[in-house]
Parts: sequence; C-alpha cells; structure tokens
Amino acid sequence: MTDLVAIARSFFASGKGLLAADESVHTATARLASYGIPASEEMRRQYRNLFLGAADIEEYLSGVILFEETLSQKGSDRKTFPRSLAARGIAPGIKVDEGTEPFSSSPNEFITKGLLSLSERLEGYKKQGAVFTKWRAVIRIDGDHLPTAAAIHENAKRLATYARDVQGAGMVPLVEPEVLLEGKHLRARARAVIEETLGVLFAVLKEHSVDCAGLILKTAMALSGNESGKKDTPEEVAEETVAALLASVPRQTAGIVFLSGGQSPEQATENLAAIVHRAKEVGAPWPLTFSYARALQEEALSLWKGKEENVPAARAAFLARLAKVSAAARGE
Ligand code: G3H
Repeated sequence: MTDLVAIARSFFASGKGLLAADESVHTATARLASYGIPASEEMRRQYRNLFLGAADIEEYLSGVILFEETLSQKGSDRKTFPRSLAARGIAPGIKVDEGTEPFSSSPNEFITKGLLSLSERLEGYKKQGAVFTKWRAVIRIDGDHLPTAAAIHENAKRLATYARDVQGAGMVPLVEPEVLLEGKHLRARARAVIEETLGVLFAVLKEHSVDCAGLILKTAMALSGNESGKKDTPEEVAEETVAALLASVPRQTAGIVFLSGGQSPEQATENLAAIVHRAKEVGAPWPLTFSYARALQEEALSLWKGKEENVPAARAAFLARLAKVSAAARGE
C-alpha cells in the first residue's frame, strides 16, 4: 500500500495535473464529428497523438487517462502510448468502466457497468503499462426529485467495489462520481448534491476497506446548471465547492482532481484558480489539481480539423491552455 500512496501523491507535484484522453470509441467519434472530422481507428490514433505526441507536456502533466483502444496504439515515436508517456515521466492510466445503463429502480438515472470482467482486465492493462485507473459514475440533478438516494448508493457501491479490486491489483483507483452540469438547478443545489454523493461514497469506501490514502477523488465543481440562466463567479464556485469537499472528503484522501464537465476552457481555468486559492485560504487538507478532457482539448481540436498541416498550431494552442491551467492549479 505504501507504493500506492506514493504513486497517488505523485500526481499532485506543483502545477501538474491530468489529461483525460479516455473518451470511448463512441464519444471520440462524436467529438471528432463535431469538428467535422470523420472517425476511424487511424483517425482516433491521430487524435490521441495530437495531444500525447506534443513536446514538453511533461512540464504540466503528471498523468494521462487513456481508453482501452489507445493502450496498444503507437505515437510518432513508434512506442505504444503508455510506454511513450512513461518514458517522459507521465503516468499512464486507463478508464476501466464500461459506460452507463439506465438504473432499473429509476430509469431516468444511470448506473455504471464494468465490474464483471474487471479483475482479468486489470491484469492485462497493468502488463500494457497502466499504473492507475478511472471509474466514472454520473449523477443527474432534476429539481428536488433527482438524484434518488438509491442511485447515489448503487453507484457508490460499484465505485467502492472497483476501488477495492484496483488497490488489490496494485494500482491507484481514481473514483469519479460526476454530478452533471446539465439542468436548471442553481449552484446551492449542485453543492448539496455533491456533498451528499461524496458523503455516501466515502462511507461505502470505508465499508469496503478501501484505503483513501491510496485513492484519488475526481469531482465536478459546484456550478449552477447549464439551463439555469445563471453564471456563477469563480469566487462563488470556489466557496461552495470547497465547503462541499470539506464536509464530505476524509483528510487522508491522497488528493482531489476536477473534471471540466462542459465548462469553457477559460471558465474551467478561472474556477480552478479560485478553488485552489480558497482551499489554501481555509487550510484544506488535500492537494488539488485538474483532470480535464474538453477544457484542455477544445481549442486545439478546432484548429486541427483532422489535418496534418494544422498539427503545429493545434499543439501550440494545447500547450498554451495547459500552461494556463497549470498556473491555476498553483492558485495563480
Ligand atoms: O469523465 C470525464 C472526463 O474524465 C473529464 O472530462 O473534463 O470533459 O468533463 P471533461
């Protein structure tokens, strides 16, 4: 376990964070299509290579979360992506959940699948070079009706079973119960749902004997829903987010990373800076950083358009955003 604790802590070296490059084939196809890029296995390889093959990413990234298909693909350096990242001092991770399905007790909510074959898959991922893993659950807010306590609990049970098995296999689990931005709710409701979700999750993790010192939490920020018509200031987001975390996350947890969740790159950057600043101000016990997909990729993808000649400009935009997000992670 000592090794896991050291690995989990190493993700939080000053100003460094994670790139989530773990979109499933379905999501990657939709993401590329939204930029007019036709999808194929080779195009998805080029998409990953755009980010993973960029020079100097190790200055900002301590880890990258990959998708199964990407583990065996190769970058321009002819190494598999996990080997290439590891050679640059960036820890390769793998998304191990298999997406969501409607929850039978409440069909407008979702439960994450993937526990059945998990143990065998973990062995294979480890051989391919993965040192940490991610499992994402989604929690949907709809007025006072959703989420139901049953959906929060079922997702927490699966996250905890996953985390226990991953630690047993000698890898670091990253638990992600994502409270979705979609909806008309206000920030205070998001904060209450995050607090409840995390409170239940950490109680169930304890029941499953998961060691929080060797575990990373990935969470959403407390934000008003994207159909609320309300734009929160970074200070408001920071105050509510840090309050929710202080009320629900054990102090021994190795660290907390944030997802961007559909915020613009600028919003995700400003909100992170305010959260880190607020956490320092109140003496929060855990290190904090980013684990963004869309907020780190968006500007680069709109320049790339799937064309080789646009790679340098797209990579420059990616590096520029990484530098800003990294400064935010230091609270600047
Ligand atoms: O599961 C979600 C990803 O890990 C983070 O993606 O930053 O686009 O929300 P996002």
